Amino acid sequence: TLTNPLRPVLLAAARSERIERTVSRSRLTRSLVTRFVPGAAEDKVMEAVRSLLASGRSISVDYLGEDISEASEADKTVRAYLSLLDAYRRLELPHTDGARRLEVSIKLSALGQSLPDGGEELALVNARIICQAAAEAGAWVNVDAEDHTTTDSTLAIVTELRREFPDVATVLQAYLHRTEADCAALSGSGSRIRLCKGAYQEPAEVAFQGKEAVDASYLRCLRVLMQGEGYPMVASHDPAMIAAAQAYAAEAGRGTEDYEIQMLFGIREGEQDRLVAEGVTVRTYVPFGDDWYGYFMRRLAERPANLIFFLRSLVGR
Ligand code: FDA
Repeated sequence: TLTNPLRPVLLAAARSERIERTVSRSRLTRSLVTRFVPGAAEDKVMEAVRSLLASGRSISVDYLGEDISEASEADKTVRAYLSLLDAYRRLELPHTDGARRLEVSIKLSALGQSLPDGGEELALVNARIICQAAAEAGAWVNVDAEDHTTTDSTLAIVTELRREFPDVATVLQAYLHRTEADCAALSGSGSRIRLCKGAYQEPAEVAFQGKEAVDASYLRCLRVLMQGEGYPMVASHDPAMIAAAQAYAAEAGRGTEDYEIQMLFGIREGEQDRLVAEGVTVRTYVPFGDDWYGYFMRRLAERPANLIFFLRSLVGR
């Protein structure tokens, strides 16, 4: 949780190439990473996708990668998504007008956003290619939120994408001071917003610090989205946030088709199944690819229990 005393250390480590090399070379067992990342290869993630769909969940797959340093890496990311969307098409799920069960989550930093000289334009071009292929495959696209220095740029690119692909979704992070206003601005008809607490290390000038303040902000943002006209996507493992989502949805007259709960692959799996059994729309976020380090470290930072599991595996139990 956000009160984990090691959170700042782990989030700094998530950005360190030196520690990445050490951790990747260490005896960190594959089985530990696969608890959060079903595999590096597309066939592994599709195996997980098929079983999640069979259990009644919807999915959003993320090809892992962020903060690239050359345009060729962005091309690799685009190719990975095009191939994944082809695999989606081979699932032959019926097209629906309502909530789509298949989604891809993309990170603009993996598509070029952070490159100097035209990075944002490159990210927009690359995102368009993915949106076009997703539309043809009957899948939704979500643009993930990264650290606060990218928020304005990301929201501008999403606005641009939505002119052509109105159902492109994005993520707002409740830990940022700006987010309640962003929720109000982006809760119009047809919008899809994923609300999460936020996974990066952010300074007090821009972000609430500590679990209590972040949770309070999450609840305010959630209410704004539920009272709005868009489609709220409640991304949290926190029982208090899930209960609030269900209560606010009922208060706003929303049925189970009018919002969804989202959780990460490998976290609270039993709870995800329980919600499905209750008739709630649940989407599981499934990452895949070789570049698991940053994602994995952010999961460790969230939960001391994950960390203890990790340390135990490092010392060989
Ligand atoms: P938090 O970490 O505060 O935990 C609260 C409570 O949840 C715990 O006290 C416990 O009860 C329960 N819980 C949490 N983990 C558990 C576990 N492993 N087992 C059992 N119980 C557990 N971030 C971002 O910055 N940009 C993004 O685009 C996204 N996208 C995204 C998509 C989806 C689908 C999810 C679920 C999350 C994200 N995030 C994200 C990450 C998000 O910002 C946040 O870091 C994590 O979800 C952790 O916050 P929680 O809301 O889960 O609660």
